[in-house]
Amino acid sequence: MPLTDWTIDSWKRYPAAQQAEYDDPEHLNRVLEQLRRLPPIVTSWEVEQLKRQIAQVGRGERFLLQGGDCSERFADCQAHIIDAKLKVLLMMSAVLVYGGGKQVVRVGRIAGQYAKPRSSNTETRDGVTLPSYRGDLVNRIEFTPEARRPDPDRLLEAYSRSSITLNFIRSLLSGGFGDIHHPEVWDLDFVSHAERPQEYLELVDNLRSSLRFLDAMVGRPVSELARVDFFTCHEGLHLPYESAVSELPPLRDRWYLLSTHFPWIGDRTRSLDGAHVEFFRGLANPMGVKVGPTMQPEELVALIERLNPDDEPGRLTLICRFGADKVARLLPPLIDAVQRSGRFVTWCCDPMHGNTYKTADGTKTRHFDEILSELDQSFEIHADAGTILGGVHFEMTGQKVTEVVGGARGLTEADLAAHYESDVDPRLNYEQALEMAFLIARRMAGRR
Ligand code: PEP
Ligand code: CO
Repeated sequence: MPLTDWTIDSWKRYPAAQQAEYDDPEHLNRVLEQLRRLPPIVTSWEVEQLKRQIAQVGRGERFLLQGGDCSERFADCQAHIIDAKLKVLLMMSAVLVYGGGKQVVRVGRIAGQYAKPRSSNTETRDGVTLPSYRGDLVNRIEFTPEARRPDPDRLLEAYSRSSITLNFIRSLLSGGFGDIHHPEVWDLDFVSHAERPQEYLELVDNLRSSLRFLDAMVGRPVSELARVDFFTCHEGLHLPYESAVSELPPLRDRWYLLSTHFPWIGDRTRSLDGAHVEFFRGLANPMGVKVGPTMQPEELVALIERLNPDDEPGRLTLICRFGADKVARLLPPLIDAVQRSGRFVTWCCDPMHGNTYKTADGTKTRHFDEILSELDQSFEIHADAGTILGGVHFEMTGQKVTEVVGGARGLTEADLAAHYESDVDPRLNYEQALEMAFLIARRMAGRR
């Protein structure tokens, strides 16, 4: 049902955290006007389709895999980088489908993940204070006044790069990229260092022969018959931008954010009386809310009621991120409160953001084992409560970066400097991401 007390601009009456401060409002307005006239990047039909699939995730009929960079960079809008990211997400999903026996909903943190919340509005180096870097959507990372000045033209640049990225992804998928039964696509060298190499190699072998079998039955590659679904998500942070790229499509009675399928509200902007919750409550999209350690049970229930007043299945995904050392204490009371409210939510675990720490030399990292531990505990807590952990949310890349320690190759803190690329949070690399999928598939199949 459309809300009668909401408009596309009503968020402007509420305090908005984490916003860029532009020194030329007229310039910003001109850019927003241009954005309003551009065609959408996704359609409301796709958005509704994803919402139905996320409702199935909430009921345990499908599994949700969300993953991608903490923050995309304009410079990374390159074929081989997008291709590698898509490839690892598809491989992970194939492992999860095969091992877990459920259809997987793939949602990339891609084609628009350009805005970042920051712990401080400014950054000071050697006595010089400048605005913080807020992601490529807003400014540049170099520490100069010119680079750090929020530039409205970057909104247009972000919109076109999002669109170029998704266009390329759609082409790859329609051209049979989903065709991962080619052995040369799977780089499994690392598996020999894992605990159960034989089991993983067999899983991939069986997966490939099933695909070959299907091809033979059908008489041509199955990838020619059906395209794998792929959806996008990003943090809905920059409200002038997100509202400018929202539409009331013809024949619909609600507004849709059409720069992505699935926006989420970050842990730092989910305040009940803030502008983000006001803006997102009026949209029809399926959406996520990050749920961190400070969330109180009654606050969570109020947030669910505010963001999903009609209790629409698939509408709301709670993306929990506490940390391996906190999840056992903090998650059960929240599950309990949601259960008692009788509301439909889809539960997802982000085992990345609660497990970040700094090494002695100040490098941000996370440990593979802690990521896995938060996941394991979350699966168990939900099983004990009789609820369903429907999905996982990772920061990951298809590149061979060294940002997260641990995993089959046993990356150490001393290895991090070799290929550390992220400007923000550390990501699982190709091997660590695939290994994580093997481990989750085992758990979905009831093995530990
Ligand atoms: C993120 O997902 O990159 C992020 C900033 O997360 P959170 O809002 O959970 O801190
Ligand atoms: Co992050």
